[in-house]
Amino acid sequence: MHAFYLPLNRRRLLHSLLLATGGVITGAVHAEALTLTPRQTEGPYYPDHLPLDQDNDLTQILGGGAPAGGLVTEFGGRLLDVDGKPVADTVVELWQADPNGCYIHSRGAPKGRERDPQFQGYGKIVTNAKGEYRFRTVQPGLYTGRTRHFHIAVNREGKRLLTTQLYFAGEPQNDRDGVLSRIRDEAQRLSVIREFKPSSTGERVGTWDIVVGFTPEDPEPRRQGGPAKRPQ
Ligand SMILES: [Fe+2]
Repeated sequence: MHAFYLPLNRRRLLHSLLLATGGVITGAVHAEALTLTPRQTEGPYYPDHLPLDQDNDLTQILGGGAPAGGLVTEFGGRLLDVDGKPVADTVVELWQADPNGCYIHSRGAPKGRERDPQFQGYGKIVTNAKGEYRFRTVQPGLYTGRTRHFHIAVNREGKRLLTTQLYFAGEPQNDRDGVLSRIRDEAQRLSVIREFKPSSTGERVGTWDIVVGFTPEDPEPRRQGGPAKRPQ
């Protein structure tokens, strides 16, 4: 694991101000609540068979030789509660399409497309004491009916706290995406659209903090993979 960029957030800034002013802005600090990351559908392609290698580097399968094809993309950030406190020891899962738009789900390859066998397709990481997580992966490909997206789930003590999706700023199909536009609250919708900027080595890098409550989700009936009428 190498270090990745974490911005100084507003809460920390306020905390510094609080120390500087001897506590006169205490009220402002406590009034600040972060925007909850919105719940979004799991969709039909959560892996029906999890891969043996489930680490947070999806570009390389253990013993797999060649790296996955596609544009290497890294993202990470912190898992926080609404008060901005880090949520440690919690599993963050990622699953996504490869550059051909194929999932590792047994029915996750659109007709006429072939899955990249070097791509792990799914990975997970346990947040550290600072609530930090990160993934190294490739840019997800497009498939019919959806804009470009990652699928993310957060699990604590075996319970699913959050199922959501993450999007790329500037994607032309974002405005027409049914799942994204179903998030009515603008602040919540914008919180799942992030900029992925090119690094000096040509990879794309994004930062995304995930904000969770602690009420477990009602389990969504798991959909059947395959040619869905409404792709998720
Ligand atoms: Fe999807």
